[in-house]
Amino acid sequence: MAQFPKGFLWGAASASYQIEGGVKEGGRGESVWDVFSHTPGKVRYGDSGDLAADSYHRWREDVQLLKDMGLGAYRFSMAWPRIAPNGDTNWNQNGFDYYDGIVDALLEAGIEPWVTLYHWDLPQALQNRGGWQNEETAHAFAAYAGRVGEHFKGRVRHWLTINEPQCFIGMGYGTGEHAPGLTLPGEVYDQCWRNARLAHVLASDALHSADGSNQVGLASTGDIWYPASDREEDVEAARQLTFARPEGVDSFLFGMILDGMADKLDFIGMNVYHGRAARMGGNGPEAVDFPAGYPRTAMDWPVTPQAMEWGPRFVHERYGLPIYITENGLSCRDWAALDGKVHDPNRIDFLTRYLRALSAGIAAGADVRGYFHWALTDNFEWAEGYGQRFGLVYVDYPTGERIPKDSAAWYREAVKSSGAAV
Ligand code: FCB
Repeated sequence: MAQFPKGFLWGAASASYQIEGGVKEGGRGESVWDVFSHTPGKVRYGDSGDLAADSYHRWREDVQLLKDMGLGAYRFSMAWPRIAPNGDTNWNQNGFDYYDGIVDALLEAGIEPWVTLYHWDLPQALQNRGGWQNEETAHAFAAYAGRVGEHFKGRVRHWLTINEPQCFIGMGYGTGEHAPGLTLPGEVYDQCWRNARLAHVLASDALHSADGSNQVGLASTGDIWYPASDREEDVEAARQLTFARPEGVDSFLFGMILDGMADKLDFIGMNVYHGRAARMGGNGPEAVDFPAGYPRTAMDWPVTPQAMEWGPRFVHERYGLPIYITENGLSCRDWAALDGKVHDPNRIDFLTRYLRALSAGIAAGADVRGYFHWALTDNFEWAEGYGQRFGLVYVDYPTGERIPKDSAAWYREAVKSSGAAV
């Protein structure tokens, strides 16, 4: 049995390039992902976000799905190039109109809009001048944040500036697996980091000056380590690996983006998918291998609910800020069965395990105030294309039809009981 605090927020999440499509509609400018996905060999199956889940046209259905599940919040992102097609201050009214529709429909349905300002679709015009390598991008981002903050004042109160800097910098400018597909040398790569941090700081100030009651966070990710046993030294090993990089361990660290940011964050968003066990060895903390045949999702990510208990505990200990789980979920090989329904028992089992673990983390003191499932619907999974289905709702891409999976009905019951049914 899981237990969640009174007022705990239950939601689902998405991101513009992954769901919208309509890439040439409503005056939207080009993004780095348009260019990257149309470069042969970059995205699996040659997929692109040109159509995606067609939410640009079907967003009303998405709002209805949220309503049907009884959710209290929807995390979605605004496409920067819809608002600022050239990345500058020539704002695009059509872009505001599109998001006005969504925000107002959510409010009317009693669903809080949680807006991410940057979920990786950088205006190509800015990339042409160096993108995140160039400090100008941080200032352009602040101008965009300020303008959007003014526009949605009093309607949107919760903001995520940037989604997973570790990923878009690491994979976009380091390994080249994501847009813009660059493999930059160390010092230029570090410049991207500095500019992303600056972008968050400036945007956070801009959003607070637009409306003093705005709550601003960012959606972080990193490698979560959990103790291999309940021995205190193993807990210490996991804590150290989560924040500090020992020689030879290559990892995305929470500390890399969150340290020194506490006064620019009203809360911390954590995207939690998987972790790894740690123990204290003779020479310090060390990783414990997964046993043969360990359960893995369709992305090949290990199923490690322990990450959902220990990640928030460690982040709470270190920063003392309220935490929201801004993403958690898994991809399965879902398809519509002969009965026309989509049966996804693995997702229900995964969610049960992770939510129980979250409840244990909260019982141990982590101040977690909400949970957003990734994702509301199936969507364009970046370099993996449409092969990876993360939704509570299945999307038949050729027709755009949405079919709630078994897990959507399960999640509705979980939410209705405030988690007690989990
Ligand atoms: C996260 C991203 C999100 C989605 C999930 C599966 O890293 O923030 O857009 O792709 O992974």
